[in-house]
Amino acid sequence: MIGVDEKVRKTLAELGVNDAQGVESLFAELRKAAEHERAELISHGAPHQPQRDRLCKALRDRWLARKGGFLSQVDENWLKPAGKELKPVVGKQFNELRRSTTCLEFEKLVEVLPLQQEAAPQMELPLGSGAGRPAPLDLTLPGLRRPLGSIHPVTRMQREIEDIFLRLGFWIESGPEIESTYYNFDALNIPESHPSRDDWDTLYIDAKTVLRTHTSPVQIRAMEKYGAPLYIIIPGKCYRHDNPDSTHSPMFHQIEGLAIDEDITFADLKGTLDFFAKMLFGEKVRTRFQPSFFPFTEPSGEVAVSCFVCDGQGCRVCKESGWIELMGCGMVHPQVLRNGGIDPDKYSGWAFGLGVDRFAMVKYDINDIQLFFQGDVRFLEQF
Ligand code: FA5
Repeated sequence: MIGVDEKVRKTLAELGVNDAQGVESLFAELRKAAEHERAELISHGAPHQPQRDRLCKALRDRWLARKGGFLSQVDENWLKPAGKELKPVVGKQFNELRRSTTCLEFEKLVEVLPLQQEAAPQMELPLGSGAGRPAPLDLTLPGLRRPLGSIHPVTRMQREIEDIFLRLGFWIESGPEIESTYYNFDALNIPESHPSRDDWDTLYIDAKTVLRTHTSPVQIRAMEKYGAPLYIIIPGKCYRHDNPDSTHSPMFHQIEGLAIDEDITFADLKGTLDFFAKMLFGEKVRTRFQPSFFPFTEPSGEVAVSCFVCDGQGCRVCKESGWIELMGCGMVHPQVLRNGGIDPDKYSGWAFGLGVDRFAMVKYDINDIQLFFQGDVRFLEQF
């Protein structure tokens, strides 16, 4: 039997795992190993604080180091090369492991280490009238603690949204922030003459390369990579030539949703987004769909939700309208499916795109988007 150290270095194919059950028991083994190592650390009882700190750090690095940590090896060797059938289940299991209490605790172990290393040399210095003799180390002094950070409100919002879709069986996909004009525009049916292609809205790197203006290009990349059926969400940073004001930032975050399968209809889109809104804002809210236009969806819509604060009566949060605009959406245009290599006569799909920062503003009642990006701890420590 090989240990988890060795298993994370192999691909699923090399491990002979080729079905969902195999993936689940592999992750169960990994979770068990993490819990075991955590329990061992607790019971280790290293009496000496520096020794204990070293053990904590070693454990954190073994599991969470960006290079070579177990989780990043799972990402590289299990998730990335996984085939189309296994990817959703590997993605789901991986996210559950990443967010498991044990893994979060590994991170915390190091965050709360006392500043022993920094403090130690000073304690050796001769103090007061001790004329050359080191001052005795007072073990009863309280340890110095690093202040704990907190999850950024935009990240918190993003995770909350991701969790709802992961529960529905979607998996998380990502794509490059520096994108070709082909994926950002052409493949999405956005013609050369469309105003969003102007310098005014788009930050160009060269004539054929842009900072992506939305997460929609990853729709095409995922269609090319996986084909149909496809159920994904795509969180990520986007960039536009927008002047910063209370609701605009040149860099902001979107989440894209894409579902492609046989017989997908607008009713699936409405049902899914209504469920999503209720999970996020509460059972009471109602959704409203209004016609709109996006070159890559037909028909297209804008979704609004009845204000979760005043229940549609009108208040400060909904700017007295009773409704809060949520996102753009629609049925994937047949030409876009074709551009992604999917047969529109066999498959249909829906897509949506929402602004995570704007969601966080609504949910946490924040009136200026700039606060998210100024790094002011007085703001951030409230979350
Ligand atoms: C789009 O970007 C479409 N790709 C969304 C879409 C996807 C529609 C799939 C249909 C199907 P739009 O330009 O409206 O749409 O941007 C979506 C959201 O991004 C906006 O509602 C807003 O919340 C957010 N957003 C756009 N520009 C900014 C900005 N400068 N600062 C902060 N948020 C922004």
